[in-house]
Amino acid sequence: MAVACAHSTWASCPAYVLHISLAISIPILRAFYYHVPYITLPEFYLTAMAYIKPDHYAVIGNPVAHSKSPQIHALFAQQTHQQLVYTANLVVLDQFEHALQTFAENGGKGLNITVPFKHAAWQWVTQRSPRAERAGAVNTILFRPDSTSYGDNTDGTGLVRDLKHNQGVTIRGQRVLLLGAGGAARGVLMPLLEEQPAHLVIVNRTADKAVALAKDLTDVGTVTGCAYQDLGAESFDIIINGTSASLKGEVPALSASAIAKECLCYDMMYGATPTTFMQWAQQHGAQRTLDGLGMLVEQAAESFFLWRSVRPETASVISAIRAQL
Ligand code: ATR
Repeated sequence: MAVACAHSTWASCPAYVLHISLAISIPILRAFYYHVPYITLPEFYLTAMAYIKPDHYAVIGNPVAHSKSPQIHALFAQQTHQQLVYTANLVVLDQFEHALQTFAENGGKGLNITVPFKHAAWQWVTQRSPRAERAGAVNTILFRPDSTSYGDNTDGTGLVRDLKHNQGVTIRGQRVLLLGAGGAARGVLMPLLEEQPAHLVIVNRTADKAVALAKDLTDVGTVTGCAYQDLGAESFDIIINGTSASLKGEVPALSASAIAKECLCYDMMYGATPTTFMQWAQQHGAQRTLDGLGMLVEQAAESFFLWRSVRPETASVISAIRAQL
């Protein structure tokens, strides 16, 4: 009896197909050659495991060596007993599409995409989630058995889950200020607006970019864009730094009057010590400051859920990664 598999390689067959094939064929072969018509259970398990190639996932970017994603996904896999391999792949700038194609052809199941390829990934995938569509960027790709690719953006949901579930912050009805109008800021806007803040203001050094971003999203919520000097005396309950200023040790030109009495200041960047923005916020009266490590782990958890249909527990992973910073 032969067990047919519709897929091109054994590695892409469902595990149960391999188990059934081995369970039937090995005892028959053994009986035929050695006249011993049985197979022990541990022997069967080891043989089966040797044949099952774990699913392959990766993060691709340039640079990518600093990425914490391989450690995060290894911890998720261990915790949820999933058989998978997750690597960090450096891709030459003009080889991005070739890298995606090769990864898919080799049976890769999913990718995370990081700087500077998120928009190129958005253009490449065959289908996009609504939140990726709006973000203009894809950070997660699922390769489907029918050779199509599904692009998602889990950054914004990662931020919202960190704020709501990990930190107990309510966004609904709050005055929210988002600093920056680049890729990072754009990626989180739709999930933030879906939480229905009273008002979301995007402020950017180059005001036109903030105004254009806000215009694109007026159907999702109350959102406006402006320059730092146009903020006036308005204050906010939640201020989120989505600029790349912290990377350079800089702080956006925000007036301290933007910090309301019980304000939470959140930097999407993270580090071993508080970022320059967090230090500035602490010095200017913010009640709470947080960095973006929780967001990083939560966006990874959302990708993991898309790929494996299992939602990992994140608190222990955030602590483990924090300890390594
Ligand atoms: P990313 O993908 O990290 O968002 P990006 O698309 O280059 O990177 O965007 C960087 C963002 O940080 C922009 O909003 C940028 O403002 P401009 O659009 O005016 O350039 C903002 N930014 C960078 N350095 C800044 C600084 N020192 N002060 C204020 N904003 C800064």
